[in-house]
Amino acid sequence: MSIEVRGLTIRYAGTAQPAVRDLDLEIGKGELTTLLGPSGSGKSTTLRCIAGLERPDQGTIRIDGQIVCDAARGIWIKPEQRRLGMVFQSYAVWPHLSVFDNIAFPLRILGVERSRMRRKVEEVADLVGLAEFLGRPATKLSGGQQQRVALARAIVFEPRAILFDEPLSNLDAKLRERMRREIRSLQRRTGLTAIYVTHDQVEAFAISDRIAVMNDGRIQQIGTPQEIYARPNSAYVADFLGAANILTGRYTTEAGRTKLAIPSVGLAIDLDLDVDAKSTDSATGLVALRPEDVQVLPSAAGTAVETSVREVEYLGRNLSLTLESAGTELRAFVSPEPVPSIGQRLWITASPNAVVHLGPATPREDRQGS
Ligand SMILES: Nc1ncnc2c1ncn2[C@@H]1O[C@H](COP(=O)(O)OP(=O)(O)OP(=O)(O)O)[C@@H](O)[C@H]1O
Ligand SMILES: [Mg+2]
Repeated sequence: MSIEVRGLTIRYAGTAQPAVRDLDLEIGKGELTTLLGPSGSGKSTTLRCIAGLERPDQGTIRIDGQIVCDAARGIWIKPEQRRLGMVFQSYAVWPHLSVFDNIAFPLRILGVERSRMRRKVEEVADLVGLAEFLGRPATKLSGGQQQRVALARAIVFEPRAILFDEPLSNLDAKLRERMRREIRSLQRRTGLTAIYVTHDQVEAFAISDRIAVMNDGRIQQIGTPQEIYARPNSAYVADFLGAANILTGRYTTEAGRTKLAIPSVGLAIDLDLDVDAKSTDSATGLVALRPEDVQVLPSAAGTAVETSVREVEYLGRNLSLTLESAGTELRAFVSPEPVPSIGQRLWITASPNAVVHLGPATPREDRQGS
């Protein structure tokens, strides 16, 4: 394990609740793990504890096996001695320094000899595509170029790992996509272990080996992007990852076949999938229907359920429809043509593949994902 966090708990002075509670996290060498979650869920706090910028109340943190923090034993290694690179949302480039001097900054602090410094700076400038800008004042760069300076500065001293806190939030959408590919490619080429913080699930899916979904200071689920998308362990994760329709289902088994009824919208689905015993035993359970997996038909057919169109949003590649059946709203993504009109009647079905089983229902109303 390259980074190992155990039982991390921290409560900021003057606050009632811990910002991070009893958090465990293991990150393998060369792996990029993303902390994904809504605002205030404790992503930055976790990262700052690992970096040594906050001092936790409980827990241990190891980097490459070395203990950098053990609250119970009063061990706490200073940030500059942890040898971690950091990239923040604000590029934090020094305006009065050239690109070269910005990138060289950590090496100067470490007292690296001049010719070695020059070689190293040129090497990483080349890696991030800044070779021709080394003489320029750092402020005379675009946002994307400034973020590359920050990236180069974070890796120039050969850190043991690199920590990113929403590094792309200040860039426009197109540049954000390009930079995230560059960051990922650079991280792969250098083999650097990385932790990446974002609240953007698309970015998390695109960049990560693994994603830890955070909720209220805890990790709600951790896995590969594919794992957490296909098998979210809770309504929280399903909802956060994909605007899922979270509904209560009732499972019944008849002659060896399991049926799932979703009474609030009147859907009945024959399951030919294995449903885990917990869900079937409990008879009712929360299910998520992904908007892209709801089939929308122009006319009645078989067991399809009649709905009425409430909202239509054009999203470019598809349309997002809000459909209402018996007082419950459902989201469905359909092809952009034809565009249905508000109030039009459409019929929906869902195949077994469209259903994500979330386990026993908690007593609350059916609701639609945001
Ligand atoms: N310096 C601080 N003093 C007091 N409370 C803080 C401090 N920093 C963060 N918090 C609180 O700790 C909790 C977690 O904050 P944190 O910054 O880790 O969240 P986050 O997941 O990074 O959110 P965001 O996406 O908005 O950056 C929040 O409730 C926040 O208000
Ligand atoms: Mg944050």
